[in-house]
Amino acid sequence: MRLRLLCGTITCAFVLLACHDPTSQPATLVPSGYPVPEGFPPLRVPPDNPITAEKIELGRRLFYDEQLSRDGNLSCASCHQQQHAFSDTIAVSRGTQSEIGLRNAPPLVNVAYGSAWFWDGRARSIEEQILGALTSPIEMASDTAHVAAQLATDPTYRTAFAVTFGALPNARDAVRALATFCRILVSGNSRYDRYRHGDSTALTEAERRGMALFFSSRTRCAECHSGINFTDNNFHSIGIHSHYYDRGRYYVTGNEQDIGKFKTPTLRNVALTAPYMNDGTLATLDHVLEHYANGGKPFINKDPRIRPLGLSSQELADLRAFLYALTDSTFITNPLFAKP
Ligand code: HEC
Ligand code: HEC
Repeated sequence: MRLRLLCGTITCAFVLLACHDPTSQPATLVPSGYPVPEGFPPLRVPPDNPITAEKIELGRRLFYDEQLSRDGNLSCASCHQQQHAFSDTIAVSRGTQSEIGLRNAPPLVNVAYGSAWFWDGRARSIEEQILGALTSPIEMASDTAHVAAQLATDPTYRTAFAVTFGALPNARDAVRALATFCRILVSGNSRYDRYRHGDSTALTEAERRGMALFFSSRTRCAECHSGINFTDNNFHSIGIHSHYYDRGRYYVTGNEQDIGKFKTPTLRNVALTAPYMNDGTLATLDHVLEHYANGGKPFINKDPRIRPLGLSSQELADLRAFLYALTDSTFITNPLFAKP
């Protein structure tokens, strides 16, 4: 029921923002101080919302501002906390009046490199996604008029909107600034990255063994958690449940083979983002690894690669060590991403 409400909101959001072209041109215009890590492709930025330094700053301020929620008690950062790689620590998020949502707040890590957002991929641009968060009854429960009116009472916002957009505070431009801030949350400076760029001392022996397992045809982890962001941007069921109350990708496609499928999440900073899975059902990385080692629950749409792996406890410990080596401590301490 709640999910249906949420989906309804998103449809409205999509109509509002239908002119945002998701098949955006690549652009590298990232102001200095926000470098794209070595080996990463250019950030994907829609042509009608280029990145500027002013927009990032305005977006950052809005991200941490509780005035955006209907009850003035939740900001984006309530659920997307920097020390947890912009995720939170509860299984499923609570909205502005503590309504319990269905889904775990995902980390905001390299979201610019995605191709569809939300666990089921129903948002086709980050702008669309954010308007959804602002207006969703189980998130900030706000509306565009409330946001505009609230921001217009603050002279410093009036100045910032005038400088950035040449306009009075309004929800559409607020969403553009917020999307820009989310786009520059780029993480690619873990010890694994340093190892990849030639520092052979950056990983311990256990971590290197874990890395080999992760990329092996035995575990097949990297077939789904692939590329620079450890995701194929695709949807799979990994047999977390035998019955999926939240049907995931099915809500977008209406195809029964998509019931229980969710977007492959990034594994960057995964040690910081517990609990895990779309509904936060697995409390720790050890639970996740145990799940994969045992092959998950029987479920009709489960991917065949999820099967008992026959890993020793040493191998599980090595895999765990590798996942920890994906933590980028500069990302979670970067003052440019913190509350202004
Ligand atoms: C009440 C908690 C909560 C608040 C507040 C919140 N979010 Fe989220 N956010 C979530 C949850 C839960 C999801 C996943 C929802 C889903 O998949 O259906 C999400 C998903 C996202 C995503 C998509 C990430 C991806 O990889 O698909 C982005 C981007 C995002 N939020 C940005 C924001 C911004 C910007 C704000 C502030 C305007 C915000 N969120 C406010 C909980 C929250
Ligand atoms: C068939 C594709 C596939 C394979 C193979 C796969 N994963 Fe996943 N992984 C996913 C998907 C999809 C999810 C999210 C599932 C959900 O929420 O229902 C996920 C979730 C995770 C999570 C939780 C991340 C979070 O933020 O909640 C971790 C950790 C993880 N996988 C590690 C691994 C490891 C380690 C392996 C190899 C042993 C592996 N995965 C193999 C697709 C895959």
